[in-house]
Amino acid sequence: MLSMMLPLFILLWVIAHFASQYFINEAFDRSLVRRTYALADRVEVLRGEVQVDLPIAARELLLFDQEDLLFHRIIDPQARVIEGELNMPPLPGKKGIKPGQLIVYDGVKDGEKVRVAAFALSLKGSSATGAALVQVGETLSRRSAMADRATLAIVIPMLLMTLTAAAAIAYGVGRGLEPVSRLRDRLSARQAFDLSPVPLEGTPAELRPFLNEINSLLQRLSEAVDAQSRFVADAAHQLRTPIAGIRAQAEAALASARHENAHHALARIAQSTQTMGDLVQKLLILARVDAAENTLRLNRLDGVEVVREVAREWAPRALAKGVEIGFEMKDAEAWVMGDAQLLREMLANLIDNALRYGGTRITLTVRSSGQGVTWRVADNGPGIPEPQRAAVFAPFHRLSGGVDGAGLGLTIVQRIAHLHGAVVSLEASADGTGLVASVKFPPPPV
Ligand SMILES: Nc1ncnc2c1ncn2[C@@H]1O[C@H](COP(=O)(O)OP(=O)(O)OP(=O)(O)O)[C@@H](O)[C@H]1O
Ligand SMILES: [Mg+2]
Repeated sequence: MLSMMLPLFILLWVIAHFASQYFINEAFDRSLVRRTYALADRVEVLRGEVQVDLPIAARELLLFDQEDLLFHRIIDPQARVIEGELNMPPLPGKKGIKPGQLIVYDGVKDGEKVRVAAFALSLKGSSATGAALVQVGETLSRRSAMADRATLAIVIPMLLMTLTAAAAIAYGVGRGLEPVSRLRDRLSARQAFDLSPVPLEGTPAELRPFLNEINSLLQRLSEAVDAQSRFVADAAHQLRTPIAGIRAQAEAALASARHENAHHALARIAQSTQTMGDLVQKLLILARVDAAENTLRLNRLDGVEVVREVAREWAPRALAKGVEIGFEMKDAEAWVMGDAQLLREMLANLIDNALRYGGTRITLTVRSSGQGVTWRVADNGPGIPEPQRAAVFAPFHRLSGGVDGAGLGLTIVQRIAHLHGAVVSLEASADGTGLVASVKFPPPPV
């Protein structure tokens, strides 16, 4: 802003300076001309000789100034100096001036710039012929001092006005843009999947058409996303029945297969269809989670109760594998805002992983603090090496291992946590073994 104003200001200064110099020159020239005419009035011709009658009082009046040095000269038609200065800046041009003519010109005298008025006084009608040249000059200190003062008188109020206007504009623009920056903050704070319309209240009217367009775009986008997850859900749903059918047939055939090769093949088919069924089931859940994005209603739930229920559900399966499920809780209750079904699904996936890839013990912990509630699922298995921990959340990403799985479990966990504003992290336990998966919920609103 300032760098833009500086050249403008210099230009203004230059224009003001030249303008005031021009008008002040005009005024001063007029007074110089008056003095010249007054001096010419004093010229007389006596018996063909040019003379000057200049009493002291008249001389003082005509040829004295407090600040500037005034000087004059009168020469007769024979170019003899009758009165005044010998050293006078020469007339401009070669032709000189015609009788009766008056000119004002710039010159230099004793190294100083001066302004000179010259008048050719015609001697016609007297006893002499030709013209006497009357010149009066002055130095320029009063003019330039006045010009400087006039320039300041123009520039300073203008500068003040410009600065005030600039400050007012900056303030106005800042205030005008305030709703825009508020809007930007609100948009940048949005969650990745949040396609809800931008609220219009409090936004400037000029932005409304633009925001309406954005909202209609968001609307179309959200419809497209919904349609896509509905399609995945439908496809998964459609696949479930035939897969279950194949599996049932394979198992029935397996029971009656006598040939060893056929038995083997049917066992593989039964196993593959089970894997396929699991994959389809996971896809269905994932699609449901995505679809829940816009319709989700969070309720106040007791986290301790939810975790206890899921642990109870999984206990028989764990027992069958020789794994012990422990439940640790410091608080009698730990409230979270959530959807009970989705939270159970999330926890089930973490327990499923601990059971499949972990060791002999699973510990579930619920802890509540001022920063919110944290759920933990810890196992004493091999864990996940640090560099892999971020990657396992990606869909279909699995670490090498014989156990079957779709690679969607942690993706589902993360999406559900995200829907709840919670953060999932994977760590090694304090003694460096096993895996600890934690879900950190935000504190519920008071
Ligand atoms: N508790 C754990 N200990 C060791 N490795 C784990 C643990 N949990 C997950 N992993 C690793 O992370 C990978 C991704 O897990 P994720 O739950 O996303 O998929 P999955 O278990 O392979 O398949 P799905 O859960 O869809 O049936 C797993 O394949 C496994 O290698
Ligand atoms: Mg899993």
